[in-house]
Amino acid sequence: MSIKNRKADHIEICKNERTAPGYCYWDDVRLVHNALPEIDADDIDMSCELFGKKLSFPLIVTAITGGFDGAVKINSNIASACADLGIGMGVGSERAGVSGVHPESYSVIKDFDVPLVIGNVGAPQLVRQKGGVAFDRDTVAKAIELVDADVMAVHLNFLQEVVQPEGDTNAAGCRDAIRGLAREFPVMVKETGAGISKDVATRLKGIGIKGIDVAGMGGTSFSAVELHRAVAVDDEVRSAMGETFLDWGIPAPVSLMEARVSGLPLIASGGILDGIHVAAAVALGASCAGVANAVLREACESADAVKRKLTIIMEELRAAMLLTGSKDIDSLSKARHVVLGESRKWMESL
Ligand SMILES: Cc1cc2nc3c(=O)[nH]c(=O)nc-3n(C[C@H](O)[C@H](O)[C@H](O)COP(=O)(O)O)c2cc1C
Repeated sequence: MSIKNRKADHIEICKNERTAPGYCYWDDVRLVHNALPEIDADDIDMSCELFGKKLSFPLIVTAITGGFDGAVKINSNIASACADLGIGMGVGSERAGVSGVHPESYSVIKDFDVPLVIGNVGAPQLVRQKGGVAFDRDTVAKAIELVDADVMAVHLNFLQEVVQPEGDTNAAGCRDAIRGLAREFPVMVKETGAGISKDVATRLKGIGIKGIDVAGMGGTSFSAVELHRAVAVDDEVRSAMGETFLDWGIPAPVSLMEARVSGLPLIASGGILDGIHVAAAVALGASCAGVANAVLREACESADAVKRKLTIIMEELRAAMLLTGSKDIDSLSKARHVVLGESRKWMESL
């Protein structure tokens, strides 16, 4: 690959290269089959509420991009599909947009009636980094306005920052900064593929945030993404680090179970690929699931391709609900399930 712009590189890499560790942790969560469900598939109510907004089924497309010219098409394709299907979406880090770099690649989503819009800033931008200044309140307000966000996601991406060249590795003070923001704006916290532990969920509880997207390990690994960038520029140290940290993190289903301690609404993401995974996530305690990489190729193609992909996930979810005898999301959240394989080993060892 040739190195262009960081945001464009991320899309190219995630589209074309292997960026997941390879083990599917969501397949470890098995729902117990109900041979006599006694409900009609057409009567199943998949709707749910997240952050006070009604979604037609419990899925959002999580933060992917913004800040380069190609992102206009990607975000508008995702927004169009999410609006048509009645589900939520997030935009990628708005650092570029608030500095005037392709703001239209974020604000384009205002053209669509997306029921839940999630803005995005990085926790590293909320504290002082080498040679830089932290975002102030007005910058975050601008990020909210740029997309008309219903809630602002603060992303935790220290795995990425530590493996990328000149990453923003100052992490002290992030919790207080998030607490400060949450006093003024509706804020949620998300990881970016390495998961939230019980300890972190406990430390996030009570600082005024509205929810957590656990974004656990098993799907997109930013260590893998940065590995591909490092290889392309012959950066030996970063290539080695990217390889070493490729499967760093807490498996997504394990992270979801850990984060339940927060008592906050949880979004389950990190390696979600199909409707059974969404059902499994709800049964494990998620209010909603999230996908990024699963719709990336489609998002680069067309709104219709994204809509088709999300429709498959929706219909798989409906099938899983019928086969567990779940008439609505509340009953799905009580569906019997087992946790096997590597996820079980993790749970037993924690
Ligand atoms: C190309 C790409 C870019 C991303 N950029 C961001 C970002 O700017 N901000 C953020 O919070 N998460 C970002 N993410 C992380 C996703 O929102 C998500 O947490 C992570 O990819 C795990 O989900 P997945 O396994 O379904 O891809 C990005 C993911 C991808 C694939």
